Amino acid sequence: MQTLYFDLRDTKGPQKEMEDKISAAAKILREGGLVAIPTETVYGLGANGLDGKAVRRIFEAKGRPNDNPLILHVTGPQWLPRYCSDVPPLAYVLARKFWPGPLTMILKRKPTIPDETTAGLDTVAMRCPNHPVTLAIIREAGIPIAAPSANISGRPSCTTAQDVLEDMDGKIDAVVDGGPCMVGVESTILDLTCDPPRLLRPGGLPLEDLERLIGQIEVDKAVTSPLQEGEKPKAPGMKYRHYAPKAPVTVVTGAPEESAQEILRRVGATSGVVCFDEFADLFPEQEVHTLGPGDDKLIQAQRVFDALRTFDTSPVTEIYAQCPDNRGLGLAIGNRLKKAAGFHVVEASGERVILGLTGGTGAGKTSALRAVESLGGTVVDCDAVYHEMLDTNQAMREDIHACFPGVFNGDGALDRQRLGQEVFRDKHRLEQLNDIVFRHLIPEVRRRLTESTAKLSAIDAINLLESGLDGLCDRTIAVTSPLELRVRRIMARDGITEQYARLRIAAQKPDEYYRGKCDYELSNAAETPEAFEAQARDFFERLIESVKEEKQHGSSRG
Ligand code: TXA
Ligand code: MG
Repeated sequence: MQTLYFDLRDTKGPQKEMEDKISAAAKILREGGLVAIPTETVYGLGANGLDGKAVRRIFEAKGRPNDNPLILHVTGPQWLPRYCSDVPPLAYVLARKFWPGPLTMILKRKPTIPDETTAGLDTVAMRCPNHPVTLAIIREAGIPIAAPSANISGRPSCTTAQDVLEDMDGKIDAVVDGGPCMVGVESTILDLTCDPPRLLRPGGLPLEDLERLIGQIEVDKAVTSPLQEGEKPKAPGMKYRHYAPKAPVTVVTGAPEESAQEILRRVGATSGVVCFDEFADLFPEQEVHTLGPGDDKLIQAQRVFDALRTFDTSPVTEIYAQCPDNRGLGLAIGNRLKKAAGFHVVEASGERVILGLTGGTGAGKTSALRAVESLGGTVVDCDAVYHEMLDTNQAMREDIHACFPGVFNGDGALDRQRLGQEVFRDKHRLEQLNDIVFRHLIPEVRRRLTESTAKLSAIDAINLLESGLDGLCDRTIAVTSPLELRVRRIMARDGITEQYARLRIAAQKPDEYYRGKCDYELSNAAETPEAFEAQARDFFERLIESVKEEKQHGSSRG
C-alpha cells in the first residue's frame, strides 16, 4: 500500500491548500481508512471510531493485542453525551479547564460505540487533543477518531511524522505531518467511573494540576510498580511491555549528581546512556542521548521517546537512564522510562541511609540517637525544627494565624502558651494544628536532609508516623521499653513522683502502637543508658549494612 504524506507543518501557508489536505485526510477516515494524525502529546494512528471494521485495521497495523481499548478523539465536551452515558458533572468541570489538552477521561460508554474500539469494556476513553490540524480533521470528518499512539505495539511512541513513517510506511493510508509534538508523552488517563477518581496513566497533564482542581485522586498501582502474575490493571494497556528499545534498560533514580555517578560506575564500552545535558561529558566512550537540562521537565518529556527509539539503530548491549523526580511531568517521564526498563530500577542513593526513630518518653530514644551520632550520623530533631519554624517560617505562621487568629500578639510574636491551651483540651483543634505543622515540616526536613552530605541521618520525631515523615526514611524504628523501667527512668531523670510518671506515660501512645507501625523495634531493657547505647549501636550497624545491600542490588520500588 502506498502511504500518502500530507505536509501540514506550516498552518500559515495558503489557506486553500491546507483545507484541501484536511478534507482529503477526513475523507480517508470517513471511508474507513487509516490516517496517522499529529497531537500535542504523541502521534496517533486514527480510524473512524464508530466503524468496527476500520478500527480492526488499526490493531493489525500496530500488531496490537485486541484486548487493549482505544481512545476516542473529539473536538470538545459537547461530544460527550453522544457516546457516553451518565456523564458526571466532574467530567465537564475537567473538560472546561483542561480541554483541548493532554487529559483522557474514562466514562461509561453508550452502545453506539463498537466493541472493537472499547475492547468490549463497558467504559470508553475520551480525549480532546490540542492540535489545530487534528481538531480541523475531526470537525471536517464529523466522526470521533479512535487513535492509539502510532508506533508498532511495544515500541516507544512516535513524536514526529518521520518516526511514524519508520513504523507504518506502507501499512496505512496516510500520514499527516503537523510538526514535532509539543508535549512528548501521552495524555494523562483519569478514570471517572470510580470514587475517588483514579489515575490510570500519568501523562502530559501533571497529577498535581488535577488534584488542585478536584482534590483527592487515587494512583493506580500499575503506575509505579510492575504487575504480579495474573494481576489485571484497570487500563489494559498498562500490562504490556512497552516503550522498550531492543537493548535492556536500567533506570537509575536519585539526585542527578548521584545517579550520574552510579551510571558511571556501571557502564562499559558497549553501554548506551540516557542522561541530562549536564552529565553528557562524563561518558565520552559511550553512545549518549540527552534528555535536556536536569531542571527542565518540559524538554525531558519532549525527548524521552526519541532518546529511547534512537538506540534501536545502534549496537548498544544495554542502556542506563537517569530519571527525574516524581513531581510534575516527572511522574510521566519516570513512568515511561521505568516501563521501558520493565521496572528494573536502581536507587543511586545507595551510600546514603535515612532512619526514622520514634517512641514514647523514657524508652531510650535519646541514647539510641547518641548511638547514631557515634556512627557518624546526623540527627534531625523535629521538635526543635518545629519550634524554630514557629518563629521563622512565614508560610506556616500565616496558616496558623488563619486557623488560630488569637495566638499572635500585636507585634507578631507567637503566644505559645495560648496556642497550647487552645489545642490541649480539643482534639479537633489539635488535629487542625497538626495538619498545618506536618504540611510545612515535611519539606523543611527534606531540605535539611538534602543539604547535609552525611551518609547516615536519623529523623527524631514523636509524630514520625502520623506526620508522614516516615515517607522520607529508608527504615523506621520504634524504641520501646518495659513499662516499669520507663517509670523508674522518668522519675530519676525528671525528679518527679511515681504517680506523675505513670500519668505522663498513660497520656502517650502505647508501645504496641509504635511496634505495629514501624519496620523494626529496638527494645530497651538495659540497666544503664550506656549499656543501651552500645546495644543500639550494634543494632544500627547491622541495619545500615542490610539497607545498603538492598539498595546496591537494586529494588523495584517506586
Ligand atoms: O496522548 C495520548 O493519549 C495518545 C494520543 C494519540 O492521543 N494516545 C494513546 O493511546 O496514548 P494508546 O492507545 O497508546 O494508549 C491508550 C491507553 C491504553 O493503555 C489503554 O489500555 C487505555 O488507554 N484505555 C483505553 N480505553 C480504556 C478504558 N475504557 N478503560 C481503561 N483504560 C483504557
Ligand atoms: Mg501507546
